[in-house]
Amino acid sequence: MRIGVLASGSGTNLQAILDDGIPIAVVVADRPCKALEIAETSSIPAELVQRESFGKDFDRDAYTHRVVDALKRHEVDVVVMAGFGTILGQAVHDAYPMRILNTHPALRPAFKGWHAVEEALAAGVKITGCTVHIATLETDEGPILAQEAVPVLPDDTAEALHERIKAVERRLYPKTIREFTHL
Ligand code: GRF
Repeated sequence: MRIGVLASGSGTNLQAILDDGIPIAVVVADRPCKALEIAETSSIPAELVQRESFGKDFDRDAYTHRVVDALKRHEVDVVVMAGFGTILGQAVHDAYPMRILNTHPALRPAFKGWHAVEEALAAGVKITGCTVHIATLETDEGPILAQEAVPVLPDDTAEALHERIKAVERRLYPKTIREFTHL
């Protein structure tokens, strides 16, 4: 079972997966980021599949094919998204049907999308959390594998709340990856 991690950001979930002892075949990033540095420090193959555009001219399907090529080159069987900032097209789901995992910083079906933490705060909910799920073409959809609640505290900021959620993700995501992959 070869796992490929897709990441764009600080890579704390990637670090948690590594700390858990889960073997990673490759880390693929869409931009230079801390996650790539973590891969390099841990002597894990890393590939920057640089996203050329964040504008209207972004060719999502062509970009998706480049990511799939990178994953295939490293003979990946299961894809783990850990803070990956690009929504991928159909080709990745054709290559890895029901074999792509994601963690989302809210309790689905509430607060899908990029601003889940800010929206939970703005809605005044007292409890939010995280959702580990199988990713499908529709963003933040797909079968739910695990969820855990996280309290919203008085005077929370989005940053403080997200950090509290991420602390839970760093425990729940590796555990769920192990269950899913039977590692
Ligand atoms: C996590 O909160 C995850 O739910 C969201 O992006 C964040 C990734 O954080 N999709 P990190 O890069 O692993 O620190």
